[in-house]
Amino acid sequence: MVILGIETSCDETSSAILKDGKILSNIVCSQLEHSKYGGVVPEIASKNHEKLIFHIVKKSINDASINIKDVDAISVTYGPGLVGSLLVGLNFAKGLSIGLNVPLIGINHLEGHLVSNYINKPNIKFPYLCLLVSGGHTQIVMVKKHNYKMLSQTVDDAAGEAFDKGAIILGLKYPGGPEIEKKALNGKIGKYKFPIPNVKSNQYYYSFSGLKTSLLYKVKSLTNKELIEDVNDIAASYQEAIIDTLFSKLKLVLVNNPVKSISVVGGVSINKRFRFKAKKFQQDNNVMIMFPENEFCTDNAAMIAMAGYYKYNANDFSELDIIPLPRETLN
Ligand code: KG4
Ligand code: ZN
Repeated sequence: MVILGIETSCDETSSAILKDGKILSNIVCSQLEHSKYGGVVPEIASKNHEKLIFHIVKKSINDASINIKDVDAISVTYGPGLVGSLLVGLNFAKGLSIGLNVPLIGINHLEGHLVSNYINKPNIKFPYLCLLVSGGHTQIVMVKKHNYKMLSQTVDDAAGEAFDKGAIILGLKYPGGPEIEKKALNGKIGKYKFPIPNVKSNQYYYSFSGLKTSLLYKVKSLTNKELIEDVNDIAASYQEAIIDTLFSKLKLVLVNNPVKSISVVGGVSINKRFRFKAKKFQQDNNVMIMFPENEFCTDNAAMIAMAGYYKYNANDFSELDIIPLPRETLN
């Protein structure tokens, strides 16, 4: 059984082919021109998706060495995300579904990230905790098969957003995560102090906007020369504060919801310092931490095809009047 997955929720145009639960191709085109604007410009993103989608889908079919007529279902992200971007993928998928006379399966992008961990790993044991750390979301979810319970989320910025906005403050490019990581490699951790934020209403919840404001005030207090000299140290200290915040809340959730394994998904999980600290967390807490392969950590259509595969097997299809839901949550 062959599923074509399509993902266009933000600034990645992506298409994947999954056959009998295995990924045959996963084409991801990251739109680089947002970099010069310091963030994703929604109108540019949707125009680019419109230009790219046909070619990306065609390439995913060619690379998988299948024929378009072999496709049994189309699986596509319907939310959350940018409405114009979601519309491009959704409408393309609807057209293909009608043209090929195959079912359409709408996928929640967050569920896509959650199942990204199952790609090439058929023997996952439930229950486990999933830490989702992306540009738009920071959540801890209890996963019991396809039943999800959100235990923690951010009350303001996501962890990836803290990297992205922090990079702008430091005069670095978008996306900020890889830029800050590069600078931090040659920096002294702890030279600059940042707070580990707490949320009064719920001890499990994250907050990153105070961290970003603290960075802004520190940078404002420096001369240009001092900033240039110290940018690596500031990046290393700021990155450490984001990572420590992620693990401090994860620890609290784990203590009260004991499980044997934790999966970490989303773009921020690629960060090497994060991976290093994850190893330490694993040893200190006697828990196994799993990561998807790197290509499935950031936005990709393989995870959307994978989520579609489970829905196909459960006969869970969508109607053709499905609309984009930019603020969709998990439950
Ligand atoms: O999962 P993703 O591709 O898209 C969303 O669903 O948001 O995550 C993108 C986020 C961006 O905020 C980006 O700065 C961050 O992941 N990111 C990183 C790294 N690579 C990407 N953050 C920290 N370190 C990295 N190496
Ligand atoms: Zn994502």
